[in-house]
Amino acid sequence: MKQNVQRLVVANWKMYFSFNQAIEWIEKNKRGLNELENESGTKIILCPSYESLSYVAEQLKKTSIAVGAQNCSAHENGAYTGQIAAQSLQEIGCKWCIIGHSEVRTACDETDLVLQSKIERLFEHHLSPIFCVGETLKEYETRNGHEKVSNQLIPLQSVLKRLHQSKTVAIAYEPLWSIGTGKVASNDYLQELFGVIEQSIEPFQKQHSFVLLYGGSVDEINAVRLWQIPQIAGFLVGKASTDFQLLKKIVLSTRG
Ligand code: PGA
Repeated sequence: MKQNVQRLVVANWKMYFSFNQAIEWIEKNKRGLNELENESGTKIILCPSYESLSYVAEQLKKTSIAVGAQNCSAHENGAYTGQIAAQSLQEIGCKWCIIGHSEVRTACDETDLVLQSKIERLFEHHLSPIFCVGETLKEYETRNGHEKVSNQLIPLQSVLKRLHQSKTVAIAYEPLWSIGTGKVASNDYLQELFGVIEQSIEPFQKQHSFVLLYGGSVDEINAVRLWQIPQIAGFLVGKASTDFQLLKKIVLSTRG
């Protein structure tokens, strides 16, 4: 059913692991991960926290598993204490970077302008954004989810409009009320919402490649029903991705 689309599962480890725990996880599971990617035909992207990123990238160098960061700076370089440049991510071997995650949007008061700059920095360094969008519970309940998500896509559209080369972009729809709560919207609602996203990217489809992901409490059980939504080509998985056996089941549910 989804044989001809690029399928992706992104493991967002957030800050669940310490440095040593991340190292232990990757050493224990790197072979299994590689076999899983071959068996499923779905691309796996591991996004550990910054301190273990370079180690994990090195461990996965000889595999086709990709490594991504959980955020990046909007600036190229300079006096920005505590920030990480897209150039460093590229040098480490990252191919992807999550941006606009609601946990970062909230904690850092991220504006559209900041997100636009982050997308630009990533493209300059040949990384693909995993651009997160999603409405709050209140917006969901008052049926303002559509409007919120299409507004959140404006910074992405403004960058894509000006580009001459072709880029790959993952868009992760993650309703805030679903992240870490165990609550997941109905397939009907999700299908509508992904329709809104499809409409927003429609003018750019010819030039660029898009992968639409769902995120928010994805587990090995709901992944099966979510996979029936035609627009979804993969998942952005938080907590469940820290358990290799759960991650495996989620990835296997995305077989073509
Ligand atoms: P969750 O997180 O799977 O733990 O809900 C998803 C995310 O925030 O990316």
